[in-house]
Amino acid sequence: MVKKRVYVTRQIPEAALLDLKEEFDVAVNPYDRVLERQELLKGVKGMDAVLCLLTDTIDSEVFNAAGPQCRIFANYAVGYNNIDVAEASKRGIIVTNTPDVLNDATADLAWTLLFAVSRRVVECDSFARAGKFKGWGPMLMLGKDITGKKLGVVGAGRIGFNFAKKAKGFDMEILYTSTKPNQEMEIRLGARFTDKETLLREADFISVHVPLTPSTRHYISENEFKLMKKTAVLINTSRGPVVDEKALVQALKSGEIWGAGLDVFENEPDIEPGLIELDNVVILPHIASATIETRTNMGLIAARNIIKVLKGDMPETCINPEVLER
Ligand code: GLV
Ligand code: GLV
Repeated sequence: MVKKRVYVTRQIPEAALLDLKEEFDVAVNPYDRVLERQELLKGVKGMDAVLCLLTDTIDSEVFNAAGPQCRIFANYAVGYNNIDVAEASKRGIIVTNTPDVLNDATADLAWTLLFAVSRRVVECDSFARAGKFKGWGPMLMLGKDITGKKLGVVGAGRIGFNFAKKAKGFDMEILYTSTKPNQEMEIRLGARFTDKETLLREADFISVHVPLTPSTRHYISENEFKLMKKTAVLINTSRGPVVDEKALVQALKSGEIWGAGLDVFENEPDIEPGLIELDNVVILPHIASATIETRTNMGLIAARNIIKVLKGDMPETCINPEVLER
């Protein structure tokens, strides 16, 4: 029997590919970089399944290039704004993502940013390395208290919940806002549901955990920064376009907020030039899920989804289940 064919758009931890390689004919992007458009179109041609990344734009042109035999695009990410899911559904193509396994890694990184910004960790490290540390100083590099402060969580999905849960150890009051209240946030964490404006006005720290959709694009922009406390810290580990980067630069420069920690950017890999010059922002290269364990587990889910679908079984984490009901 001819083996089914799977295309992987970039090398992921090899452990995740072993089972796939056992069952199918697997081709992997040989370069250590994002495929160029023409390479992607050529790579997917004739494949039965594609394991793709958030850096690949997957749309009707890609589905056409793959061909009608292609059953599944397994995205190696929880977010799937890079994929035209409606178009996939129209064609009966299954789309899957990698939820849950990255909840802790992502929430941990949001906390890393919160600490780093509040205690000026990156700025202090540069200062010390540059030989500027001349001894303890009563006014040296003063930051912000975290324990006991008010945390504002935007989005009460799996990652938002996980992020909020970790605040319990810091005796924080937790506010959250989301499209609908989340009972677990309230019962297990004692979090208080508020509207967006109340959260922005009251929170000392604001961390964003929403998917990128038309309604969350520039969710935080000029008006939102005006509502925030001058001492507020904004953390974004979701998707760059959720925060208006130009407005953020203005808010940071003019002291409208105290600082920001960013793992994602509006036009990755480009970073709004104004941000680079500022000391009160910590900039990371989109690494929230980047731990050895988590990236392996993400790959294993994507691989299992492909194996199941190509064997006629149900995938584990389908984004467009309506396709399965046909
Ligand atoms: C990473 O950004 C993801 O969506 O998994
Ligand atoms: C994020 O993935 C969420 O479930 O909110």
